Amino acid sequence: MVIVIGSINLDLIATVGRLPKPGETVLGDSFRSAPGGKGANQALAAARAGGKVRMIGAVGKDGFAIEATALLRDGKVDLSTVAEVHAPTGTALILVGGDGENVIAVVPGANAAVLPGDLAKAHLAKGDIVLLQQEVPLETVGAGLEGARAAKAVSVLNTAPYLAETAPLLAQADYVIANETEFDLYAGALKLDGENREARMQAFATQTGRTIIVTLGGDGVIAATPEETLTVPALKIEPVDTVGAGDTFCGYFGAALEAGHDLEAALRRAAVAASLACLKSGAQPSIPTVDEVEQALKAGTAGGRA
Ligand code: RIB
Repeated sequence: MVIVIGSINLDLIATVGRLPKPGETVLGDSFRSAPGGKGANQALAAARAGGKVRMIGAVGKDGFAIEATALLRDGKVDLSTVAEVHAPTGTALILVGGDGENVIAVVPGANAAVLPGDLAKAHLAKGDIVLLQQEVPLETVGAGLEGARAAKAVSVLNTAPYLAETAPLLAQADYVIANETEFDLYAGALKLDGENREARMQAFATQTGRTIIVTLGGDGVIAATPEETLTVPALKIEPVDTVGAGDTFCGYFGAALEAGHDLEAALRRAAVAASLACLKSGAQPSIPTVDEVEQALKAGTAGGRA
């Protein structure tokens, strides 16, 4: 089973011709709301990939909660372990520019009430894949990593959003997934040696015995294990909206591990899914189905050892 411990948000999304500079006002082209939150997005991606998924999280007792969880319900994600608390459902204010790039401000609300005590409800078991991000309290992320190890489950920590305090947690996860900005910041915080990013990734993998995966947007993905370095390309696409692409990568990666794929195959599936997620707007509405991913994989994407 894939168990996601993380955030659930309602995304309030405006599209603009270009992102404003600080202090500037720009006119928007469109507005919509859509389910989001890094945890929820990853849970839905794992479910669309074919995984059996349980979500540990929290929403408010408000109308936003219904909209925020609608696609998770459609996707048959087990929500019996999502609490209803006396705080507003988390929200994310998102601006998407004409080039598909975005800026996001998240107001955690109910996500701040996901606490270590809630993890008992997760019923972690040997072989489970536990997906974590950094939009719920850090003590919960730490407890999730410990709980996964105690249960002999496999933990995957997505280091988004970057938080300097979590640097010591990275070595506790079996797999760490970071984007290039996050990895470069953690490499500084952890004082990783190496003349370039790949060398610093290798240093992390060798020192910790863990696998570090860095997503490079249109340039694909690079992964370092204690034994080797792998690279996998992204699909060549014109992005419409990159919101949720990283979450799609994490969810598909977790589901692929759960299904027994090896690291290279899991990376390839996840990279293709993340590319396809950039072709539509909205985090959850853009997550591809497993059939779409299979078709794109058949159409051919190369991956290999560096
Ligand atoms: O990663 C994208 C997500 O970040 C959005 O859905 C938003 O809710 C924020 O959590």
